[in-house]
Amino acid sequence: MSVETIGIILAAGKGTRMKSSLPKVLHPLLGRPMLRYALQAMHEATGQKPVVVVGHEAERVRAVFAEQAEFAEQSPPLGTGDAVRAAQAAVPAGARWVLVSNGDMPLLRADTFRRLLAAQQRHKGPITMLTAVMDPPRDYGRVLRFPDGRVEAIVEVAHATEEQRRIPELNVGAYCFDAAWLWQALPRLPLSPKGEYYLTDLVGLAVAEGLSVQALTLEDPAEALGVNTRSHLAEVAAVMQRRVNETLMAAGVTLIDPARTYVEPSVQVGRDTVIWPDCYLLGHTVVGEGCEIGPNAYLRDTQVGNHCRIFASVLEYAVVEDHVDIGPFGHLRKGAHLAEGVHMGNFGEVKNSYLGRGVKMGHFSYIGDATIAEEVNIGAGTITCNYDGERKHPTKIGAHAFIGSDTMLVAPLEIGEGARTGAGAVVTKDIPPYSLAVGVPARVIRKLQPPTEAKR
Ligand code: UD1
Ligand code: CA
Repeated sequence: MSVETIGIILAAGKGTRMKSSLPKVLHPLLGRPMLRYALQAMHEATGQKPVVVVGHEAERVRAVFAEQAEFAEQSPPLGTGDAVRAAQAAVPAGARWVLVSNGDMPLLRADTFRRLLAAQQRHKGPITMLTAVMDPPRDYGRVLRFPDGRVEAIVEVAHATEEQRRIPELNVGAYCFDAAWLWQALPRLPLSPKGEYYLTDLVGLAVAEGLSVQALTLEDPAEALGVNTRSHLAEVAAVMQRRVNETLMAAGVTLIDPARTYVEPSVQVGRDTVIWPDCYLLGHTVVGEGCEIGPNAYLRDTQVGNHCRIFASVLEYAVVEDHVDIGPFGHLRKGAHLAEGVHMGNFGEVKNSYLGRGVKMGHFSYIGDATIAEEVNIGAGTITCNYDGERKHPTKIGAHAFIGSDTMLVAPLEIGEGARTGAGAVVTKDIPPYSLAVGVPARVIRKLQPPTEAKR
């Protein structure tokens, strides 16, 4: 199959204005490196892996996007026109249309690239460019037009006259070219007064040859916001967050205050879930239906079932089944798994542990490396002493056990089904089922009567 359309993304620049040791296109935007957005949108529009032009810190950029892109190297970076020239070798020979976008424009949508391509496919001239009308205009190239409205040229703001600077129509930095024309025109680009080859000068060049350049104007100028500085990064992040939040609300999620709700695009939330302010949902977090999250919750790579309530708590790499309530001030760490109906009150911490159905852990407890069967009661202040200074050890607690307040469970340890510990017990030996153990160190003082089946 021959490739008709290919995308080129320019990402070889230094990003000097970011004042960073991290290449600009790798700066995270809602949890993903900025370039990922342009890459995805371009890939969707063309059906092909785009060619990314790398130069500054090329290896770092390549490593992050190795799977998602083809690469071309530009060194030294001699301007955006030179960058596209550097990409030519990586473009399949038969390509008829070339979409080009700057790598620092993460808000451009796949649909915009599609429309740019479709417009160029209908156009007789060699270039369709994307423009935006913005007031006040940013430091973008200005679009010069003839009195009859035809596009004449792009003038970079550094070289623009006072009068030209007042032009509100701007060059966004995304274009569609007729490939054959592009390749023969690029070597003819003039050197700019700054010593660079500007891609934008192709417009004047085409017009000078009597060819037409078409402009497609963005309906939503917010898409044109690019990132040159940290301030721009924050501005773009805010727009991106609004998009994500609008999508959630459209799908039936209530956000009490969207401006104070940070949700990454990779997160899924079910309908009728309510998210209170100051919540942070990150990575591959999935929240089910009818939950109440926050205020003040931080969820990273965590799965939450339906009808859960999570208040002022931190959940990281955890799994929570339906009808669980956590908080305030709970902390689930890696490998925590709370089964249906678990109640975890104030100041609980759970790490690498399974809490069975209906387990209650109301106050001030640490559970690590433990497996707890259903309907166990964990008294206030219970601690699994899972670490002996060298190694971690497991704790097992049988169904319906009742762990008294302030019990220290010195692992490795097994507490039998229906066993009880007295308040303040320091348990160093296994406790058989249906036995009561008390004291320091705890010893069994009595057998307990197992409940009849009916009572359960
Ligand atoms: C560019 C446009 C300007 C437009 C603006 C909008 C030019 C000359 N100017 O200016 O008209 O309004 O974008 O976003 O094109 N890059 C390379 N190699 C280079 C230089 C740059 O790959 O030698 C890459 C950068 O990494 C960046 C992109 O090209 O992703 C744009 O470069 P940047 O320096 O940000 O251009 P602007 O000054 O924003
Ligand atoms: Ca830029």
